Formats: sequence, structure tokens, C-alpha cells
Amino acid sequence: MTELLQIQDVRKTFGIRSSFLGRKKDLVAVEGISLRIPKGRTLGLVGESGSGKSTLANMVTGMLAPTSGQVLIDGQPVHDQKGKVALRGESGAQIVFQDPYSSLNPRMPVAQLLAEPLKVAPKVLMPEREQRVNELLDQVGLPRSARQKYPHEFSGGQRQRIVIARALARRPRLLVCDEPVSALDVSVQSQILNLLKDLQDELGLTYLFIGHGLESVGFMSDEIAVMYLGRIVEQGPAHQVLADPVHPYTQALISSSEAIPFHAGGTVELTGEIPSPLNPPSGCVFRTRCPLVTDICAEAVPALTPRSESRMAACHRR
Ligand SMILES: Nc1ncnc2c1ncn2[C@@H]1O[C@H](COP(=O)(O)OP(=O)(O)OP(=O)(O)O)[C@@H](O)[C@H]1O
Ligand SMILES: [Mg+2]
Repeated sequence: MTELLQIQDVRKTFGIRSSFLGRKKDLVAVEGISLRIPKGRTLGLVGESGSGKSTLANMVTGMLAPTSGQVLIDGQPVHDQKGKVALRGESGAQIVFQDPYSSLNPRMPVAQLLAEPLKVAPKVLMPEREQRVNELLDQVGLPRSARQKYPHEFSGGQRQRIVIARALARRPRLLVCDEPVSALDVSVQSQILNLLKDLQDELGLTYLFIGHGLESVGFMSDEIAVMYLGRIVEQGPAHQVLADPVHPYTQALISSSEAIPFHAGGTVELTGEIPSPLNPPSGCVFRTRCPLVTDICAEAVPALTPRSESRMAACHRR
């Protein structure tokens, strides 16, 4: 199977100046992540706030350059050697953000919002661009009458449809969805998720799908990667990870979800807060919250190793 997206040993640090001592420290937002997504498939990324999901997403879309490692789309590097974006338009990835309010210019009518990525002068729509706008509206299930309306005239779900249409305008093959339904009413969430699935079938799209919780990620994804403090702690086919999680962190995420039954016996509860990425624990970064912690966890970083043919986990327990 050919991979559309390849993430190769990517690391991203942010230099943070501590106001207290004026010294600079590196915050490690993403550490040693490698992932592949075959064409037409969905990889789901899940993890608590601050685990590095958006940082990783932004390196795929080109908004951030990795500190080390590289991202390839269809074999082409997203950034050149100097860290400049090398892929644009249909060759690069497009992103759908969580908040449709902030990602749409409130002063532009929908026709212009959708034509803008096609590099059209304001108010002048060429016939083929008019046609493309209509096609995009059809694809996301909005009426043609939406063309003259402004973002505030739509509901949250409809606005997210406009955001999706805009992301599709330049016919990308890879779509990064960064918590695309988190800001929406629960009743609307499944409509948008189903729309994304239909579009994937229709257009052969490949998705990197990010979510806070396992419900939407489990529904959307062929494969799941669970992130904690910038690292992947578990990865595998979605149904296997959900039915039989290996890592205590994944077990805890599943136990805390009402929608997914947890069969591994009892519930696994997380204690304490997620540590600061400026001062991560030694050894396994999850050890300070792990109910199964042992001595070795403070001493050695557990590598992400195969657990069965298709599954990986980073945990000292076997
Ligand atoms: N531009 C930046 N400068 C400094 N630190 C940053 C920057 N962007 C992100 N970070 C830090 O990197 C870490 C990862 O952040 P990121 O936004 O990628 O997490 P996330 O998993 O997307 O969280 P959320 O679920 O809240 O969206 C956090 O500790 C965050 O504070
Ligand atoms: Mg985020």
C-alpha cells in the first residue's frame, strides 16, 4: 500500500524564556514521532490538552517547521532544508480547525470565501470559479442560496461545512482535521463526522484526524495513535486499540469514556495533573500518573516497540 503521509522521527521544541531567571529553556512539544498514513485512510491522533497534537498537525500543513526529522507528502518533503514550505495548493495538506468562528473572515460572503483559495480577485468570479463554488457547496450539503450570505448567518454546523468546503477548494489529497467537531453541539457532531466520511469515499481523501476523546477518533479512524506529553505511547488498528488497549494511559482514556466499554477488568483511573513539558519526568513521561508504576519507569525511557503484528506500545510492562 502506498503511503500519502510519512512523518519521520519528527521533533519540535519551542524556546521559552523564563521570566524569573531570564534563561532560555527548550519546551519539547513533539518528540521522536514517526507515522505513516496510506492513501485514502484515516489516522486518528488522541491525547489530552498539551500533548502536542496541534504542533504535529502544524508541521504536516507546513505552518511549523520541525526542529529535526521531516514530513513527506506523497514522497515530497513539506519543508526544504532551510525550513521553508516547499508544498502548496493541491500538493500540500489543508487543515480544518476546531473553531469555525475564527477561521472564516466575517466580512466575506460565502461565494468569496470559497473562491479566495482559488486566487480570484474580490467580487470578480470567473465562470469556472463560479462553477467550482457551486460544486463545493453541493459537496458539503449547503444550498446555492448560501453564496450571498455571511458566516454569522449560519449555524455552527453549517459554518463548519463552509470551512470544509474552503479546505477542499484547491483539491488537496490530504486533510488535517484538528478537533473539527469539538466546538459543535453534540447533535451536530455526527452530521459533520458523517460528511467527512462521505467526502473521503467520494474524493479518495486521506485524513489526519485529531480529537480530545476516543469516541470521534474511534469512529473516524482506521488506525489510532495515542499521544502523551509529545510522545506516542500506543498505536494500532482502531478497533484493536479500543477493544484491548495495552498502555495504561490508553486504558485510562477508555475507562473515562462513557461510550466505549472497557473490558480489561475494572477501571484505570488517572491521578494528578499532566506534568509541565518544560520539566518532564525522567524515564517514562507517564509514570507520575500511572497506576502500574514500578522502579524501572523512573530510570529508562520505554521505547515504542511492537506488541503484535500491527500494534505498538511504549511501556516497560510486558
Ligand atoms: N508557539 C508555541 N510556543 C511555545 N509553546 C508552544 C507553542 N505551541 C505549542 N506550545 C506548547 O507545546 C505543547 C503542545 O501544544 P499543542 O497545542 O500541540 O497541544 P495539543 O495536543 O494540540 O493541545 P489541545 O488539545 O489543547 O489543542 C504545549 O505544552 C504548548 O504549551
Ligand atoms: Mg490542539
